[in-house]
Amino acid sequence: MQRRFALLFPLVVFSLVFSLHLQGQDKSTDAQGHPWWQHAVFYEIYPRSFMDSNNDGIGDLNGIASKLDYLQALGVDAIWIAPCFPSPQVDFGYDVSDYENIDKMYGTLADFDRLEKLGRQHGIKIILDFVVNHTSDQHPWFIESRSSRDNPKRDWYIWRDGKAQNLPPNNWLSTFGGSAWQWDSKTTQYYYHYFYPQQPDRNWRNPAVSTAMYGVTTWWYKRGVAGFRLDAVDTLFEDPNLKDNPLLPGKNAYGDPNMENKYNDKLPEVHDVMKGLRKAAYPYGAVLIGETWTKDVSELKDYYGTNHDELQMPMDLMLTKLKFSAQIFREHMGAVNASGEWPTWVISNHDIVRSWNRYGDGKHNDEIAKDMAAMYLTLRGTPIMYYGEEIGMQNNDPTRPEDVKDPIGRRGWPREKGRDGERTPMQWNDTPNAGFTTGIPWNPIPVTYQTYNVADELKDPNSILNWYKALLALRHKDPALLEGEYIALNQDDPNVLSYLRKTKNEAILVAINMSDNQQKVSFDLTKEGVALGKSNTLLTNQINLRNIATISSVTLEPFAVYIAKVE
Ligand code: NOJ
Repeated sequence: MQRRFALLFPLVVFSLVFSLHLQGQDKSTDAQGHPWWQHAVFYEIYPRSFMDSNNDGIGDLNGIASKLDYLQALGVDAIWIAPCFPSPQVDFGYDVSDYENIDKMYGTLADFDRLEKLGRQHGIKIILDFVVNHTSDQHPWFIESRSSRDNPKRDWYIWRDGKAQNLPPNNWLSTFGGSAWQWDSKTTQYYYHYFYPQQPDRNWRNPAVSTAMYGVTTWWYKRGVAGFRLDAVDTLFEDPNLKDNPLLPGKNAYGDPNMENKYNDKLPEVHDVMKGLRKAAYPYGAVLIGETWTKDVSELKDYYGTNHDELQMPMDLMLTKLKFSAQIFREHMGAVNASGEWPTWVISNHDIVRSWNRYGDGKHNDEIAKDMAAMYLTLRGTPIMYYGEEIGMQNNDPTRPEDVKDPIGRRGWPREKGRDGERTPMQWNDTPNAGFTTGIPWNPIPVTYQTYNVADELKDPNSILNWYKALLALRHKDPALLEGEYIALNQDDPNVLSYLRKTKNEAILVAINMSDNQQKVSFDLTKEGVALGKSNTLLTNQINLRNIATISSVTLEPFAVYIAKVE
């Protein structure tokens, strides 16, 4: 009996380990063996502003749940919800005081579970926002840490003596203005905060911190979360010797000298944490998306990990800084493509001016919004949309400093107006408050909601919303758009961005006229193994291109988009 057990035991352990391994893989791959996130379309929700179910003027989880039908019909596969955890809201949720709960303002854990379950029924996964760099100063860990110099949690944060009396340990500046060091009179030391003083940085060099943080991710994975967007990963580590950063010419919006963050940004140790988080994600097939502000493609490549053991989806935020130009985009796509990694495209988020304003020229913003959608939803890679982008929502910046809610806008006024403008409530219809709430919305809604709103745009075949829907439908059903290689075409054309998406079996041509003039283009695809030049239009916003049968000569009206299957 004992012998039989001895024989069986390794077999049992092996099958258990093997089945766990497969479970992890099963969850992460689709029927064709692709990780689910490669074929998915992600959609960022700023929970304060999406939908208010209890009419207190602030969006909530039940509000999100009530809009899952909309998101499903739009073609969204996963939603990233910006922080909805308990928080004093100094940085609107990016100051977390409890990582394993939901802020009352947004609902309860039971509401979260319900949302997750409903999401599954709608084919929509939930991604949460993980604030890795810092906690709130109201988090119990920090309360303990600041209670005395010998508290066991003291070393969970970065505490240092000043350089001299009334002088912080070094010259580092908070990215939100002022010194990055806050004096604590009780324990007579400074603590470090890259963001607001109410957001003390964790000490990631302390293994107890990483154990606790990896544990938090597991806690949520077990609750059904499909992955995390990792906040501010660039700044997890600081030079232990606290060397002063080099100064640069000029001053920023807060009146501080410009500075190169040489000793507190993108230190190599960041990659160890990325690996640790990935290891914790693996058994659940979870995806990690990074808030990665990189200066070039090579820095971005580093975030995937040399053995592809770090982030699956470090965001290409460089795209948000480029000018709307066929030539500039083509160069960038070329560099991204050459890196060989799977890109994550982003054109908007809650920290930057909305894409409608940023890429727009002031005259053709709707057309340009459609061009941007056509581009980033047909490129090789995974797109992350920002709520409202699909209806052409516009920035609504405060006009008076006393109306600003985002603290950086108050501190940096008038050069820095803060981020309220890109965080306004979703525009659902043309009724008062855009159908977001019957209460007083926490952030004012621009009058443009009367024409830019979901209900009206659904009725208009030429709306930005219906354009997004058509693009997303195409993207979901066409293998070449999902996984085909990217081949740049007509590389000298300064006005029309064209490329092929090609698999073994099919090729799709995308041509986007990014100029306000008519452009004549021709395509010779013989080099690409597409000899006949015959085409079958899949999607266009130019009526007379719907039925063209050849691509040897195509006339594109200003800002026109032409997407066709070529044979
Ligand atoms: C990046 C977030 O996107 C931003 O909103 C926040 O203020 C900072 N990180 C600090 O957490």
